[in-house]
Amino acid sequence: MAREQWHSQTGFVFAAVGSAIGLGNIWRFSYMTYKHGGGAFLISYIIALLSVGIPLLILEFAIGHERIGSAPLAFRKINKKWEWLGWWSVTFVMFGIVLYYITIISWCLNYFIKSLSLAWGNDPNSYFFTQFLAVSKSPFDLKGIVSPIFIGVAIIWFINWAIVYRGVKKGLELANKIFIPLLLILTAILVFWSLTLDGAGAGIKAYLKPDFTMLAKPKIWIDAFSQIFFTLSLGFGIMIAYASYLPEKANLTRGAYLTALINSGYSIFAGFAVFAVLGFMAASQGQEISQVVSESIGLAFIAYPKALSIMPGGNIFGAVFFLCLVVAGISSSISTIESFTSAVIDKFGISRKTTVTVLCIFGFIGSIIFTTNAGLFWLDIADHFFTHYGLLIVAIAECLLVGWLFNIKIIRQHINRISSIKVGDGWEFFIKVFTPAVLVALLTIDFYNEISKPYGGYSWTAVVLIGIVWLLIDLVIAFILAARPWKTEHHKVKGRGEMQV
Ligand code: PHE
Repeated sequence: MAREQWHSQTGFVFAAVGSAIGLGNIWRFSYMTYKHGGGAFLISYIIALLSVGIPLLILEFAIGHERIGSAPLAFRKINKKWEWLGWWSVTFVMFGIVLYYITIISWCLNYFIKSLSLAWGNDPNSYFFTQFLAVSKSPFDLKGIVSPIFIGVAIIWFINWAIVYRGVKKGLELANKIFIPLLLILTAILVFWSLTLDGAGAGIKAYLKPDFTMLAKPKIWIDAFSQIFFTLSLGFGIMIAYASYLPEKANLTRGAYLTALINSGYSIFAGFAVFAVLGFMAASQGQEISQVVSESIGLAFIAYPKALSIMPGGNIFGAVFFLCLVVAGISSSISTIESFTSAVIDKFGISRKTTVTVLCIFGFIGSIIFTTNAGLFWLDIADHFFTHYGLLIVAIAECLLVGWLFNIKIIRQHINRISSIKVGDGWEFFIKVFTPAVLVALLTIDFYNEISKPYGGYSWTAVVLIGIVWLLIDLVIAFILAARPWKTEHHKVKGRGEMQV
């Protein structure tokens, strides 16, 4: 069967941007920027983007396009022994990251409705933890399922299923062509509205005011690099699959630059809405900005709701804000489902409809653990380990594999043959040496902190079982899948670059 294709290269960029712009762009980015000295963080963020983000994004696009395959197929065609790496990335993303990611989208969906009546009253903090999440005492004190979150999860899984089921062109491309403009319009409404509020200026100042002394701290760099990673969906196997659906002639580097530019531009833009509102709240309560900001999840579900309650038209503003999060979230979650689906279709030749249906049912069941009263703990631990270790290890292995166990020139020539912006020796150096070196350094520092005390103050049992064992189970599944015989002939097809010579 012929490989599915995007209708146009613009459609591909829409989809890649859809995957990149997600929950992380809206509040995580703004919070990070604020925490790490405003303009100073932007410097480290841009350095991370240029030195690791864009070179890796180009690499992932090129691998998928040149080898013509989803992550497992593409890696296998690079080196037979490395198919498992592709399976590992798509497995821990599909049976890890996306399970809790969809749960957070469900929170946003709930808050979208709650905004209309400002349901949190005057204590959003206790509303969020005790009423809405009804958090239990510890990770293994599951208690029961929280119905509104569970219902939201079911709805979001259904929407994901309905989109990915329809395939590359009619599902993913069409959905993103609607989602991305919608998201931009909604965000623009928020930004311009928020800038009219009293105190907005002070908020923006706190957001962007540079404190360059922060650049000397290692933590700012760790956070900048990991933000770039997560935000560009690198190491997820998504960008590889997406690029494999491009036609023979495709401008790969332009696509990568555009995706990176739109994604980061969006983050910075959305940050204005977040901080203008916090500035307004500080002004109306006679407080400092530092007193009204709270950490990532708290920013969206506690600090923001507080501001909405005192803002004229806050219920509508809030609804638009949470709708933005839902839309940004879904355009990312569909990409993870696609990366696994694409891998199954490539290797086992099972139909898309069956694959997507089975995957979404399993995914939905897997999400249930996050809808329990202990869900927040599970989410926190799983997120930490998947994003800090899973993604980084995949990216390091990916660079070493292409850079050292394969002739990277094949990939480079392929990129340059079809793209308008050429890559040179510098790019090769970044992939072979610089990126893996930076990532290994980050991993080492992280790991060192990890073993000095259990993450987040949880018990070692919880950290090991939820964080580490989960990743290892996914690794075992990956090896099993890689060892299964191929039911299709795709792995015998040469790469596009090799076909040229
Ligand atoms: N880029 C996404 C974000 O910033 C990360 C992501 C992609 C998460 C796909 C899940 C699925 O939120």
